[in-house]
Amino acid sequence: MKELILIGPLSQVITMTGIPLKGPVSDNQLQLIEDAGIFCEDGLVKSIDKYKKLLSELKDVDVQLIQLEGNHICLPGFVDSHTHICFGGSRARDYAMRNAGKTYLEIAEEGGGIWDTVQQTRKATQKELVRGILKRAKQHLKNGVTTIEVKSGYGLSVEEELKMLKAIKEADNHYPLDFISTCLAAHMLPRDFNGSSSEYLSEISDQLFPILKKDKLANRVDAFIEKGAFNEADITPYLTKAVEMGFDITIHADQFSVGGSAVAVKFNAVSADHLEASTSYEIELLAKSNVIATALPGASLGLGCNFTPARKILDAGGSLVIASDHNPGSAPMGDLLTQAAILGTMEKLTNAEVLAGITFRAAAALKLANRGKLQQGYFADFSLFHTSDFNEVLYNQGSFKPCMVFKKGKLIYDKHKP
Ligand code: NIG
Ligand code: FE
Repeated sequence: MKELILIGPLSQVITMTGIPLKGPVSDNQLQLIEDAGIFCEDGLVKSIDKYKKLLSELKDVDVQLIQLEGNHICLPGFVDSHTHICFGGSRARDYAMRNAGKTYLEIAEEGGGIWDTVQQTRKATQKELVRGILKRAKQHLKNGVTTIEVKSGYGLSVEEELKMLKAIKEADNHYPLDFISTCLAAHMLPRDFNGSSSEYLSEISDQLFPILKKDKLANRVDAFIEKGAFNEADITPYLTKAVEMGFDITIHADQFSVGGSAVAVKFNAVSADHLEASTSYEIELLAKSNVIATALPGASLGLGCNFTPARKILDAGGSLVIASDHNPGSAPMGDLLTQAAILGTMEKLTNAEVLAGITFRAAAALKLANRGKLQQGYFADFSLFHTSDFNEVLYNQGSFKPCMVFKKGKLIYDKHKP
C-alpha cells in the first residue's frame, strides 16, 4: 500500500529546479510555485502544483491531508555538508584565549586546539558520543537541516576513529535526519604516535580503510592540508590509496595558507572546504575543475578571520556551497541559517546563491543527486516557514526558524509541539 500525503496550501514553494551546479545565480532564476500543494508518494515528491488542482485530482484517492492554516512558504530541506558534531568536551577556554589575543598555535602549545578535543573524545564512550551528536543534530533540525555530514577526526587511532564512526552510524540509525559520515583520521598527527606523518597515514590506510569499507562506516575520506597538519607529500600516498579503494575525497583546504585546493583538484575531490586564504590562482583552479568550493562562515565567525571569497568563486564560474563546520574549536555556533545569511551579506550573494549553497549544491558536494530540489522523484525533504514571502527567511539572518520540517514526507519537527 502506497503512502500518499498532500501538504498545503503553501503561499510559495521554492523548488530550486533549473539552476545550474556552477556559477552565479540571479534571484529571478528561482522557480516559485504559488498557492501550491506538495503531493508525496512513499517519501518522494510525486508532484507540486496548484493546491486546489491537486485536491480535486485526488478527491477519490486515499490520501493523508496535512492542511495548513495561514501563510507558509516551503524550501527544500537544507544539507549541511561539513560538520564535526561528534566530539567530547568543550573548547570554551580556547575561544576566550583567542579573543584575549593568543594565536591558534600558542593555544595549541598551552594544551588547547584539536589535540585537546582528541583527548576529551577518547575519554567518551560510544554512547556518550551518540548523545552529543543527537543533541547537536536536534539544533540543526530546528534550522531546517535534513541531511548532515559528520566527520571523525578526534580519535586519531584506528580504534578511536572506529568508535567515532560507529557513533555516527548509531546516531543515523536512531534519528530521522540522514547522517553522512566522513573519515578525517588525517586531521593532525596525533601527539602520542611514535613515528612520522607518513607512518601514521600508512597505518590508517592499511588498517582502518578496509574496516570502513567492510562495515560500511564511511565512503568519504577527508584530510587537513595545512602547516602543522599534513602537507602534499605526506598526503599523496594516503589519498592515492583512498581513491584506489573507491572512497570519495574531500579536503580541508587553504584555511590559513594555500596548497590544499591544488591537492583537491589533483585528486578530483568532490569538494575543497574552507578556502579563506585562497587567492585568485586557487579560485581559478577550482572554478575550472569539478571540485565544489565550500565556504564555512562559522569558522570565520568563530576564529574572527576573513570569509571565503564566495563572490569571486561564483564569478569565476565555480560551484559554491555553504556549510556550518560545526565543531568545538573553530566553529562552535553551528547555526547554518544564520551563517549562510551573514555570508550572503558580507560577500554580496543573491538569495538564490545562498539557497543553492545550502540545498542542491550542498547535496552535490556529498554526491547525493536525490535531494536539495523539490521536483518529482526527489526526497520529500522540506521546511515550512510562517510567512508569505521566502525573502523573509534570509532577511531575518537566522532568527526566523522553520515552523515545520518534513523528512521523506513525514513531519519530523513541529515548533508548536514539544
Ligand atoms: O574545520 N581546520 C581543521 N579542522 C576544523 C577545526 C577543528 C578544531 O579546531 O577542533 C575546522 O575548522
Ligand atoms: Fe572542518
